[in-house]
Amino acid sequence: MKNTLQERSLATSRLFIAQSHNTFNFFFHVLLFASGLFIGIFLTLSLKHMSLNFQFLPSLSPPPIISTSTNPTTLTPNGLRGFLVPTKAMHDMTEEQLLWRASMVPRIEKLPWKHTPKVAFMFLAKGPLFLGPLWERFFKGNEGFYSIYVHSHPSFNDTVPQGSVFHGRRIPSKEVRWGDFNIVGAERRLLANALLDISNQRFVLLSESCIPLFNFSTIYNYLMNSTETFVEAYDMPGAVGRGRYNPRMKPLVMLSQWRKGSQWFQLDRALAIEIVSDQQYFPLFRKYCTRRCYGDEHYLPTFVSIKFWERNSNRTLTWVDWSKGGPHPARFMRNDVTVGFLERLRHGRTCQYNGETTNICYLFARKFTPHALDRLLRFAPKIMQFN
Ligand SMILES: *[C@@H]1O[C@H](CO)[C@@H](O)[C@H](O)[C@H]1NC(C)=O
Ligand SMILES: *[C@@H]1O[C@H](CO)[C@@H](O)[C@H](O)[C@H]1NC(C)=O
Ligand SMILES: *[C@@H]1O[C@H](CO)[C@@H](O)[C@H](O)[C@H]1NC(C)=O
Ligand SMILES: *[C@@H]1O[C@H](CO)[C@@H](O)[C@H](O)[C@H]1NC(C)=O
Repeated sequence: MKNTLQERSLATSRLFIAQSHNTFNFFFHVLLFASGLFIGIFLTLSLKHMSLNFQFLPSLSPPPIISTSTNPTTLTPNGLRGFLVPTKAMHDMTEEQLLWRASMVPRIEKLPWKHTPKVAFMFLAKGPLFLGPLWERFFKGNEGFYSIYVHSHPSFNDTVPQGSVFHGRRIPSKEVRWGDFNIVGAERRLLANALLDISNQRFVLLSESCIPLFNFSTIYNYLMNSTETFVEAYDMPGAVGRGRYNPRMKPLVMLSQWRKGSQWFQLDRALAIEIVSDQQYFPLFRKYCTRRCYGDEHYLPTFVSIKFWERNSNRTLTWVDWSKGGPHPARFMRNDVTVGFLERLRHGRTCQYNGETTNICYLFARKFTPHALDRLLRFAPKIMQFN
């Protein structure tokens, strides 16, 4: 842009000088000295004026790039592009730098270009995404409406094929031990990375054993149209509820404010930003909610219930079966996956959605084993109406 501008103004000044030369000849015999002086002054003034005009030209002649573009990748590097388009999921920011960047909020809410809001699907995985083929089917044909982020063990080095939706979607990860508070750190890292893309407006936390219960358009609309956030939170008496509260958290967190809930959440951008920016509750939980406390079941439910309960539904959209008891929910194998079972998960109960009763209460379900994949792939097109 800059180069062509210079070339154009150079060409025009050459033209101008040529024209001036004729004028110069005409006056030559009359007022040699005076006209020379005159032209000198005129030339200087005109050129100044012209180069000023040229500076305004680009915004007049070609259509303004920002306002007509639907895709931020066509924004110029000197314009908004460098700011808007996060290049790769992998980057070299430190955690501190990442959280700081992710915590930024524009004060002007309306975006000055056309954009399609996206859902960020954030996979918190130990190793391979063994239900990947099901998710590939789910995402197929919906490009531009979703982003994928994967947090896996740093030493995990499985390669993802080029054509996969998961290709190049791993974020800088740290080791996560189940039951340890650092799992909350991983959730926050996923959120922070997803926040770097300003198009991401909804944030869904998933594990490698999660499946979608509906097709993409149903899930997208459900999340986008929701006026509420989905962080499960309830008050539970007994050892595995209130019993995990540490009185040293007073006065920031009182026993009556202590909440429990599933870690598998669905949030909007505003709450995601609050979570990555939290400098108060996070350090307190990291200090006092360790080991048998299971921070991933308490930090977000408590934090959200204290500060952002007004817009929270207190429920999660991820179904899980705790009915068998014990520290882990039920796992589903091949023979568990039947048409009746999937239909029960999809429509088996009623709940509130945007103030109305609905029979779609869960969009996702866990925990499914690799053995369930075959049948899921077989049933998905018919039951979940994948296209
Ligand atoms: C992946 O890691 C394993 C050890 O964990 C190693 O044996 C293997 O060579 C690595 N593969 C690649 C492609 O780096
Ligand atoms: C939900 O949002 C979609 C667009 O994302 C719209 O087409 C649809 O009508 C909305 N549904 C409801 C029930 O508001
Ligand atoms: C969620 O729980 C909070 C208390 O923790 C309560 O004030 C709020 O009304 C609940 N919201 C819903 C939708 O039930
Ligand atoms: C998705 O599923 C819904 C029913 O849940 C159906 O009405 C819709 O047509 C499906 N969308 C696509 C793109 O197949």
